[in-house]
Amino acid sequence: MEVLGIDIGGSGIKGATVDTAAGVLTRERLRIPTPRPAVPVAVAQAVREIVAHFSWTGPMGVTFPGVVLDGVVRMAANLDRSWIGVKGADLFGEQTVVLNDADAAGVAEMAFGAGRDRRGVVLMLTFGTGIGSALFVDGALVPNTEFGHIEIRGKEAEHRASDRVREEEDLSWDKWARRVEEYLRHMRDLLSPTLIVVGGGVSKKAGKFLPYIDLGDTPVVPAELRNEAGIIGAAMAATGAATGATRLP
Ligand code: BGC
Repeated sequence: MEVLGIDIGGSGIKGATVDTAAGVLTRERLRIPTPRPAVPVAVAQAVREIVAHFSWTGPMGVTFPGVVLDGVVRMAANLDRSWIGVKGADLFGEQTVVLNDADAAGVAEMAFGAGRDRRGVVLMLTFGTGIGSALFVDGALVPNTEFGHIEIRGKEAEHRASDRVREEEDLSWDKWARRVEEYLRHMRDLLSPTLIVVGGGVSKKAGKFLPYIDLGDTPVVPAELRNEAGIIGAAMAATGAATGATRLP
């Protein structure tokens, strides 16, 4: 089935049509810079532009960088506070399913990427503007985990180890990798995952920082779908394709 997937990020809003059975984009993706301030009406306008570009009238999935429960935004750490209480289907249209961005990326990675056929506890973490998390138990999603806000050295993990912090503090790859490793060790000690998948935009540069990260027996692998995971996972959520092995909120 072909479905439109849209990924709302801190710097860009990206969309494409997706073949949800194959987990691939069917048309080249369109990226629009995230409006500033990223208030609901402005983001909805950008989403409408993407919908118009693809002349889309069918179901669509939209990711959101915050907690989404029953289609309603409950928390938005890096977006405008006015999002809280917004119902996705009211803003983007009746045929829209909205879910957390890391959850969407994780759903796609579990179906078509680094988490394929992996049982047990799998933790996906996305490093971007913030740190997103998606937790899977035998392929089923535990939604809205928000592990980027766990405290490390008295600070939220995403304020120490997100990719934005690496850029803002101009950290070398090995210095940043040490912060990421400390965070991953903490998460490993809390959850004992059988696999950790590192995603987000920075995952395409995994060769620069993963070699510095050693978690002993716990494998840490880069996401395979790179920047497309959110778009693909959003589309999967809209078809309900993810409700079998991977349940959605
Ligand atoms: C938000 C999460 C989101 C992550 C990545 C965090 O600040 O709380 O909901 O998944 O950033 O965008």
